[in-house]
Amino acid sequence: MKFFIDTAEIEEIKSLSELGLVDGVTTNPSLIYKSGKDFKKVIKEISTIVEGPISAEVTSTESKEMINQGIELAKISSNIVVKVPLTVDGLIACKKLSTNNIKVNVTLCFSAAQALLAGKLGATYISPFIGRLDDIGTTGLNLIREIVDMYNTYKKDIKTEVLAASIRSPLQVSQVASMGAHIATIPPKIIEKIENFG
Ligand code: G3P
Repeated sequence: MKFFIDTAEIEEIKSLSELGLVDGVTTNPSLIYKSGKDFKKVIKEISTIVEGPISAEVTSTESKEMINQGIELAKISSNIVVKVPLTVDGLIACKKLSTNNIKVNVTLCFSAAQALLAGKLGATYISPFIGRLDDIGTTGLNLIREIVDMYNTYKKDIKTEVLAASIRSPLQVSQVASMGAHIATIPPKIIEKIENFG
């Protein structure tokens, strides 16, 4: 299973990269806001440190603007993946950007049926939010299993990778690995816990 790091903090990315634990990075507007830096500058800086995929999220909720923002974000570096929300507009943007050979991470996925749509529309990654499903009293982990099984059944047509997101504990990291998630995006503080106790 690949490790993506869920942060926009440059120092954290640098130190985990030196350890060899960073296969990619996921960011979102709130993580970038927390870093206190300019959105595009942070993404550019990350792209000078990490060779793997770097997810940069659109801020618009409207498909045309998402597409425009996605095209601009993709120009920052060849390893940028445009992150769009799993909404109707997000799916329209996913289809358009993917058709134009721009990689897309469809985020905020809460059901296998939603993941099926993203897969059919050419998403490179689907991000099921397991922690937030746990928050509302369902078992987020089950969703990982369902999507992995479903994509495997249709692997000739669906090439989308399952990127387990909203991970809150070391246990969830090993659980999503056991379920066959291709990738987990992990906050640095969870990796630290694994190194110390997990
Ligand atoms: O990977 C998605 C993450 O940034 C959101 O996590 O813990 O706020 O649900 P969380």
